[in-house]
Amino acid sequence: MKPVVVVHEPLHLTGETLTLFAWRIPDLVAYQHRDDEYWFAPLDDDLPLVRLNQTGVEMLRAMNGHTTVGALLEQYGEKICGPDGQPGQWHLARWATPNYSLCYYGAEPPGGHRHQAKWDTLLQQIREGWSGQDGFEGEDHLEDFHRHTLTEPHEDDSHFDMVETTVSHLFREPSAALGGLTYGRLLMRQLRRLGWFSPKPKIILEIGGGLGYVAREMGKELLPFERQSMTYISLDITAPFLKLQTTRAKEGGWGGLGTQADAEALPFADQSVDLVIDNENMADMTPVKLSKQELLSGTGTTAQHQEALDWIRRVRLPIEGELQDDVIFNLGPIRFVAELWRVLKPGGHAFLTEFGIDNGWPEPVKLPGHTEYEVQYSHLRQVARWLGFQERYLSLPQFLGIKPDTKVLCTGAAYTIQRFCRMINLPFVVRAYTEQELQQALGDILPKLHGCHYHDVADPAWFNLFDFKVLLLEKPGGRPRAQFTENNGYRWYSQK
Ligand SMILES: C[S@@+](CC[C@H](N)C(=O)[O-])C[C@H]1O[C@@H](n2cnc3c(N)ncnc32)[C@H](O)[C@@H]1O
Repeated sequence: MKPVVVVHEPLHLTGETLTLFAWRIPDLVAYQHRDDEYWFAPLDDDLPLVRLNQTGVEMLRAMNGHTTVGALLEQYGEKICGPDGQPGQWHLARWATPNYSLCYYGAEPPGGHRHQAKWDTLLQQIREGWSGQDGFEGEDHLEDFHRHTLTEPHEDDSHFDMVETTVSHLFREPSAALGGLTYGRLLMRQLRRLGWFSPKPKIILEIGGGLGYVAREMGKELLPFERQSMTYISLDITAPFLKLQTTRAKEGGWGGLGTQADAEALPFADQSVDLVIDNENMADMTPVKLSKQELLSGTGTTAQHQEALDWIRRVRLPIEGELQDDVIFNLGPIRFVAELWRVLKPGGHAFLTEFGIDNGWPEPVKLPGHTEYEVQYSHLRQVARWLGFQERYLSLPQFLGIKPDTKVLCTGAAYTIQRFCRMINLPFVVRAYTEQELQQALGDILPKLHGCHYHDVADPAWFNLFDFKVLLLEKPGGRPRAQFTENNGYRWYSQK
């Protein structure tokens, strides 16, 4: 089920609103359907496309931060702005609401220049309005969302296209940005380079595999004889996703085993798993909100809060700086890492990636229908070391070896183009496109699109890729590996 979006009433174009300045959202993409008909996509995809004529486009252009709502109303209020017949007034009352998000009205600019990512402030406001929820949404909210909201079969990619797009989803097809590979294939290559496939892992466990593309692509990267004697298990809390994961794992040559469970309590025996893959799930795991009083006294008001406080004390996590009235703590990810320590065999490995921070306390990240929480990596790493793991930590682009100046289509533009293509019955998937890949996907349609723009893959305005971190864990105690260096195809083994 698609999460419900709060519908915002049109604005009253009276009083103080008339004195506000109007800014159109930067980088809007338009489709020119006819000579005098341009399409724009409201942020809420349940709303029909906005169809404008030259007058409507002129009004949008006039929203340059120097024109007031009152002046726009005076000039365009009565004029018909598009083939649907609505006058400027109708549009002015709607475009600045979160459901449309085509512009912003304010006394001050929404935050400054786009390249300093200050439009983030505006986008955060939009998201808050979109979900209709402020701040913390409760400790059971995420489990409830996955178990009880996402219950319908997911036959297509729409949930990950629209609701929670992930890096592996954007790179599920071969991409020039990844040297012509998919995310799953490149991940497999990097894990091999780390030596994690010699000796071969017998039991591989993927946690929260979404639509199953990583399982499929990792499998394809191996030869059939290499997959022999390996078992790939998909584990997910969301039943419809799990079904897709096992189907796609089979397409990748795996057996297709799956289990519905919560990664915070893994249904596996101690020391039974060789390798764990976890892409972008930890922000979905249980957050707790601890009060200043609880942090200072070390006594929790609920069993769950006490569990969090016990971790903080046991691992000696610093309670940094001046304390706010309350803070978010990543209890779920910590439970998960403790479970990894239990289920991994000596010498076993885990690859974990998620967006996150190194200092301070996690902030909520609003998505349609649910809220996720940044992972506080200095806390998580301290827990991992305390458990006994050897850990390595780097950014996801570094781990994948992505060239930071590779140019890719703005993700917002990809969502918008998908909406236009749906209207003209042209298949188009949301993913990371280089210019050439977009040309191949759209052909004759491309010249009719205005405002298509590309970002460096490292630009925060693209997908904040450098906020995604990789934590590599190794449980000590495996068989010692032969040490060698490679030169011109020859391996020189050390005598140590
Ligand atoms: C943001 S998606 C990531 C999907 C996929 N790994 C990717 O990179 O596209 C989160 C996934 O984790 C699953 N998930 C969320 N919380 C979980 C939990 N506590 N235990 C197991 N799976 C969970 C969701 O059902 C979903 O498949």
